Amino acid sequence: MPANTQAKELSREQDDVFARAVIYGLSRPRKTLPCRYFYDARGSDLFERITELAEYYPTRTEAGILAAHAGDMTDSLSTGGVLVEFGSGSSRKTELLLDELPDGAAYVPIDVSPDALVQAQARLSLRFPGLDILPVVGDFSELSRLPGGLAARPKLGFFPGSTIGNLTPAMASRLLMRFKSLLSAGGRLIIGIDLKKDTTILERAYNDGAGVTRDFNLNLLARINREIEPVFDLSAFAHAAHYNAREGRIEMHLVSLRDQSFAIRGHRFAMRVGETIHTENSYKYSIPQFQALAGCSGWRPVRVWTDPDNQFSVHELA
Ligand code: AVJ
Repeated sequence: MPANTQAKELSREQDDVFARAVIYGLSRPRKTLPCRYFYDARGSDLFERITELAEYYPTRTEAGILAAHAGDMTDSLSTGGVLVEFGSGSSRKTELLLDELPDGAAYVPIDVSPDALVQAQARLSLRFPGLDILPVVGDFSELSRLPGGLAARPKLGFFPGSTIGNLTPAMASRLLMRFKSLLSAGGRLIIGIDLKKDTTILERAYNDGAGVTRDFNLNLLARINREIEPVFDLSAFAHAAHYNAREGRIEMHLVSLRDQSFAIRGHRFAMRVGETIHTENSYKYSIPQFQALAGCSGWRPVRVWTDPDNQFSVHELA
């Protein structure tokens, strides 16, 4: 099959996966949509803008912690070591760690987006001419092995951004176990975890004044309109985000503003006024809670760094 035809075939298959996931989620007694579909081109732009909002403290707070302690975070990595980043995207935060790597080190960015990997490699190879960059295109949650040749080299995993907060603790534990086996014996992991805190601060971070998080949430429906079929009237939905203290998580929902019904690929759905589509969880941990989770996932907590206000934490696991 010519490469072009093959690419089209693949993207059609992916569309199908998206449509099935949407139909499955909306068919459940409590409607849900998977948060991984937030990140099309527009969603990624909106997320980038979220990270710059005054109310959204995690990104800049974590960057401050990395800037202050990058040398400590990488000091376990000896000559010939490999930094492996799970979901590297633009690799912006990573530069702080790359600055501190020993000579002869390699960087393995793993991401689903080939474009993001190509761009990051172009930028990083200029800034770090001596660094060996070995990009891997793929979903880190499904990856079962790293590129051959790395097996014998010491490895440090990097998973910033509190991305693991999207998963339930049970799923987070399974992912941590997978990282443990990917990084093999002696491997360490540097992972960013947003901390439990005052509900007002948490809820403000997901209900910004400029409405960027609302646009980010509604973009999921806009994406269905664009990529599957034009079903949703966006003005019939509102953004809602609140802290569920019992579960220890921020929940994002899309609230139906009226009784409505719609069909996607012949599947009919109805929503009552006030009924919601649950679009995202963002779990928050205390330091001991996260250390306990890591502990039952095959890891030993070693060091933890926080900001002066204890808003965010970066953990070293071994
Ligand atoms: C990228 C999953 C860490 O949970 O804070 C930000 C996503 N959603 N605002 C988070 C997000 C709404 C973000 N993570």
